[in-house]
Amino acid sequence: MTDKLIIFDTTLRDGEQSPGASMTKDEKVRIAKSLERMRVDVIEAGFPRASKGDFDAVQAVAQEIKESTVCALARALDADIDTAGEALKGASSSRIHTFIATSPIHMEKKLCMTPDQVVEQAVKAVKRARKWTDNVEFSPEDAGRSELDFLCRVIEKVIDAGATTINIPDTVGYNIPLQFGELINSLITRIPNAGKAVFSVHCHNDLGLAVANSLSAVMNGARQVECTINGLGERAGNAALEEIVMGVRTRQDVFSCETSIDATRIVPTSRLVSSITGFAVQPNKAIVGANAFAHESGIHQDGVLKNRETYEIMRAEDVGWSANRMVMGKHSGRNAFRTRMQELGISFDSGEQLNATFARFKDLADKKHEIYDEDLQSLVAKSKSESVNEKFKLISMKVCSETGEVPVAELTITVNGIEQHGRAEGSGPVDAAFKAIESVVDSQTELQLYSVNSITSGTDAQGEVTVRLERGGRIVNGQGADVDIVTASVKAYLNALDRISAPEERAHPQV
Ligand code: KIV
Ligand code: ZN
Repeated sequence: MTDKLIIFDTTLRDGEQSPGASMTKDEKVRIAKSLERMRVDVIEAGFPRASKGDFDAVQAVAQEIKESTVCALARALDADIDTAGEALKGASSSRIHTFIATSPIHMEKKLCMTPDQVVEQAVKAVKRARKWTDNVEFSPEDAGRSELDFLCRVIEKVIDAGATTINIPDTVGYNIPLQFGELINSLITRIPNAGKAVFSVHCHNDLGLAVANSLSAVMNGARQVECTINGLGERAGNAALEEIVMGVRTRQDVFSCETSIDATRIVPTSRLVSSITGFAVQPNKAIVGANAFAHESGIHQDGVLKNRETYEIMRAEDVGWSANRMVMGKHSGRNAFRTRMQELGISFDSGEQLNATFARFKDLADKKHEIYDEDLQSLVAKSKSESVNEKFKLISMKVCSETGEVPVAELTITVNGIEQHGRAEGSGPVDAAFKAIESVVDSQTELQLYSVNSITSGTDAQGEVTVRLERGGRIVNGQGADVDIVTASVKAYLNALDRISAPEERAHPQV
């Protein structure tokens, strides 16, 4: 008999806590649909008390998703729990996840509470959450640095109060696999009512051990893992969903549990998250990196040709890598376009949105003969992000880059609908173009990151650019895609300016 390992995805909540990774409501719904298609068991959609935007996004995900449980995060406070309950109303299956810190340093320095007060508040929170749903998760935050006796005490009490999942977070990524596994084992064996709840883990990657710690916990009885696509998350990130799922699946000789995940949806979902957040996947990233299944050395290539299992422990197609498929061209019609988009899991809220995206497709097909699935996906990412709040818009540009000459950019943009012209020199064409924008807008932002990724292969591929800007401590990412890299860069810069100009009042759950 193999147990079920519950996959709890927190890309939309902890993933969104990565600086610059904030997502719009539409973007969250698109990612949630992709997670549902992948058969993720629980989707943590956000922290509704953080802001009106977060509330709306959780509500939209709760209404849209039918096959996965939708979860909302709440501190152990009445108002947080009630807001989470409201946001989840109407969900096919809902869960409230409430938490309070239990480590000495957090209780004393952050909460200014005694251990007895923490226990009391945890119990009260779980009871209140049970009024909204019978599916309640409790996390003792910073459990990885909490005292074992105290953890046992709190957990026993919250299970009695009605918690059905107990999640053990290594909030600061401090644990190491052997010790974290032992912690889970001790909790499950020592807590008298442990059998009434599912034990879960939530590991951060500060020491690069999030996946190893999670898997060690699974070997010691944890039956839920909290993880994110591409390992996105606060600071160094969370355990990567794709690595957990494929670790358990590939090593069935070691794990006595299985997930229900459709692994062929891993790569498309990874790409979707990367293009929406602008967080590129490093080429050597396990499972979803561009080189994850590429063999460079002659000896390896020779071995794989003779028998793929000589050097491959997984098949690329099993995790959703397929040869780039040329799906459409310049002569494809609207119906074919819509059908292919549906096959990719992309639907349109309105005829207007379909028409706008179809128009972009036609523009792209004029510039690029072969349109791949990835190109189609980038069209949607673009049309949704641009529809957020387009204060800055590129009208035209001219960039000169010539051997021995200083690069110069001249461009026309609209700012709130009013045309403005900028001109600047720079150390390269992109630098000149960004300076030309700044000569118009003087945004007082600081460029923190500039990265270019090729969406497909070939020199006619679209370049997908991410620009990260910072102003007054606030960090945003902007994206742009185009067959011309300088144009993609300008679009990404303007998109980042749009995002940083939008008001944001948002509480962080753990502060
Ligand atoms: O890392 C953490 O402790 C969390 C909790 C809210 C579960 O994200
Ligand atoms: Zn976390």
